[in-house]
Amino acid sequence: MLLGVNIDHVATLRNARGGIEPDVIQAALICEENGATSITTHLREDRRHIKDDDVYTLIKTIKTKLNLEMAMADDIQKIALKIKPYSICLVPEKRQEVTTEGGLDVASQTEKVSEFIRPLLDAGIIVSLFIDPDLNQVQASALTGAQFIEMHTGSYSEAFASNNEQDEFLKLKSAAKYAQSLGLKVNAGHGLNYQNVHRMKEIDGLYELNIGHSIISRAVFTGLPEAVRKMNDLIK
Ligand code: PXP
Repeated sequence: MLLGVNIDHVATLRNARGGIEPDVIQAALICEENGATSITTHLREDRRHIKDDDVYTLIKTIKTKLNLEMAMADDIQKIALKIKPYSICLVPEKRQEVTTEGGLDVASQTEKVSEFIRPLLDAGIIVSLFIDPDLNQVQASALTGAQFIEMHTGSYSEAFASNNEQDEFLKLKSAAKYAQSLGLKVNAGHGLNYQNVHRMKEIDGLYELNIGHSIISRAVFTGLPEAVRKMNDLIK
């Protein structure tokens, strides 16, 4: 399983003082040097962490793949078409949320999603849809032309070590299996940490995990190189 590291919270810390440190680009390079196979970043409509300049510099600097998380917004689509990241992950976005709260509802807007991603696919950008592990959402995603889904692991992560853990885990497992049977490749992420991540290895064929908050949090104590290496050890 591959590890994509989400570096948004390095930018959150930087923006707290409005200066230039910690340097987001340096963080991305350290992640790559220590085993990250892609760098994920969410250019939010409110630019609360990553800014346009970060994305323009990242695409020129990193050596692995840039995975750009984005909402269905025309101005962000324009930026994606300009910089051409390796992949984009389409996420829902609400101004008031602290982080991405739920998966994208592809089932109720399949045509709209298909139309939105078409120019991105035509430009050779791989498209992933961030959805809840729900079979209807998986089925709808397969109709859009996207090559990947990213399963939202937030409910599993919250249920970890509680009575609901197994139910939430099985939702992920069956959604992944169904997606693969429809020809989709499957990533996962959100809320994964050093305690709960090991169960992702029980899901056959999971391609890449995108993990941010727990890695950046651990890095405060151990440094970023150790935090990335440790997560990679756990998912290999
Ligand atoms: N995947 C997606 C689509 C996300 O929106 C996020 C959060 O930005 C993550 C993965 C990473 O989540 P976390 O920071 O909880 O590891």
